[in-house]
Amino acid sequence: MNILTLLHAKVRQAMSQAGIPETLSAAVAPSKNAKFGDYQANGAMAAAKSMGMKPRDLAQQICEHLQLDGIAHQIEIAGPGFINIHLDQNWLASQLQKASNDTRLGIEVHSPAQTVVLDYSSPNLAKEMHVGHLRSTIIGDAIARLLEFMGDTVIRQNHVGDWGTQFGMLIAELEDKLEDGDSASLALHDLEKFYQSAKKHFDEDPAFADRARDYVVRLQSGEENVLALWEQFRDVSLSHSEAIYEKLNVTLTPDDVYGESAYNDDLAVLVEELKAQNLATEDDGALVVFLDELADKEGNPSAVIIQKKDGGYLYATTDLAAMRYRTGTLGASRIQYFIDDRQSLHMKQVFTLARKAGFVPQDTQLEHRAFGKMLGKDGRPFKTRTGGTVKLAELLDEAIEKAADVVKSKNPELSADEIADVARKVGIGAVKYADLSKTRTNDYVFDWDAMLSFEGNTGPYLQYAYTRIASIFRKADETLDTFSADVQLDAVQEQTLALKVLRFSEVLEQVAEDAYPHTLCAYLYELASLFMTFYEACPILKEDVPAPVRASRLQLSKATARTLEQGLALLGIEVMTRM
Ligand code: ARG
Repeated sequence: MNILTLLHAKVRQAMSQAGIPETLSAAVAPSKNAKFGDYQANGAMAAAKSMGMKPRDLAQQICEHLQLDGIAHQIEIAGPGFINIHLDQNWLASQLQKASNDTRLGIEVHSPAQTVVLDYSSPNLAKEMHVGHLRSTIIGDAIARLLEFMGDTVIRQNHVGDWGTQFGMLIAELEDKLEDGDSASLALHDLEKFYQSAKKHFDEDPAFADRARDYVVRLQSGEENVLALWEQFRDVSLSHSEAIYEKLNVTLTPDDVYGESAYNDDLAVLVEELKAQNLATEDDGALVVFLDELADKEGNPSAVIIQKKDGGYLYATTDLAAMRYRTGTLGASRIQYFIDDRQSLHMKQVFTLARKAGFVPQDTQLEHRAFGKMLGKDGRPFKTRTGGTVKLAELLDEAIEKAADVVKSKNPELSADEIADVARKVGIGAVKYADLSKTRTNDYVFDWDAMLSFEGNTGPYLQYAYTRIASIFRKADETLDTFSADVQLDAVQEQTLALKVLRFSEVLEQVAEDAYPHTLCAYLYELASLFMTFYEACPILKEDVPAPVRASRLQLSKATARTLEQGLALLGIEVMTRM
């Protein structure tokens, strides 16, 4: 149990003994200022109000029952009725010691565990993956790792766009290229160019356009040779994405791909059901659902097209089918979508409609984890110098190159192999951290210099903090992983650092709940900064430091390093012992 949960339970118990109804919360929170203790219980005010009592009197009654012997060394009432709790340093020391030697750093798994489907990355296969998919991939993957660590059953779903009318055009183009003697992988080497050339043929050559349209029909009716071409296209395009996942150190595998095409057979069935439920109505030849729940200010219902005039299905239709597959077949009780905020209306529509039609049980959590745009330093959407879309593969190579330059200049002693390894970890880590450390729902500015800096809230700063501790252990001739010593927390810097380490699990709970990874980043940054403060104030390796103090400080350093390592690992960022 983490400290927050423990204190919550203790205060709530005292409230019960003071006759306060169970519905009223203990409202325990970490104190913003050390003056007010380490934690505060703020529930007395609201409880007093609802019970018609004086808040300070009620706070007094709670304190009389509050059993924190051995846990807190001081409890006081402040202001209108805050209860300030000052933790006992010996208790903190023993908690820290236990946590730092535990494989899970003392963090308990969720109980009960949930089955959570995470829909992330999900590029359209018709084109090269671009920066627009970077945020979804990075953020979704961090949350996947985190929920898995918390014990949930995580099912990743890469809902790739591998179906739709544009595939007719792409297949026709591929057929031509194969006839010219190209292999599929050669023809599709540059998907961007391939797409443009297909589009050009489609627009300029009526015979080609007819063939493309014909292929759409034949693809949909499952004609074998057309399907085979489609599969070739799909495989090559997917292999491009997979190369990026690998470079990016993202956990998505080919097994996680479950694209739009997977739902084909269910779409007609689903549309029939919507008709039978009188939810879908014909409107100008198309099938539309009107949702009063999402009506605009004038009272016009929100329209969701589920089948076009020509019989084709839409993005929304597929998403509805996906929702019932995820709950019905995969058994999800929570589904999270990592998609940019421009699709907010779409997500609201399909969530509302899925519930209305009974495609998902009422208690299933449906969450659109929206995020803002990635901007260039000029504040406009991130583009190449000539205004084109930036290819992800090239962006990541650039990150690694730039990181190599930085690493070489910082540490000329590293071998070429070491530089390559460190540059990959630092470059990729910097790109990921720059994204994850910003509030998810805001736009953010992609800035090479800022993200590769060794100062401030950056990936390299945190990786560097880890390597510093590793080097302390090297100098002390001790092994970080197996080191174990008694902890004593005398200096205030030691106490502050220890409490910070122990708050790791509170932070993870929070992020598991709201999927805002910047909370974890801010925590790790504060942790690293507190470590630096501690290290300056509390020498470890100096000769005059008594052996037990030195050992205790090493143990505290170990706890910090392990927390940094675990926290970064959850963000998909690797550490190293030298950089
Ligand atoms: N392929 C879509 C795009 O690139 C994203 C799909 C997101 N997932 C979903 N279930 N709609 O915009």
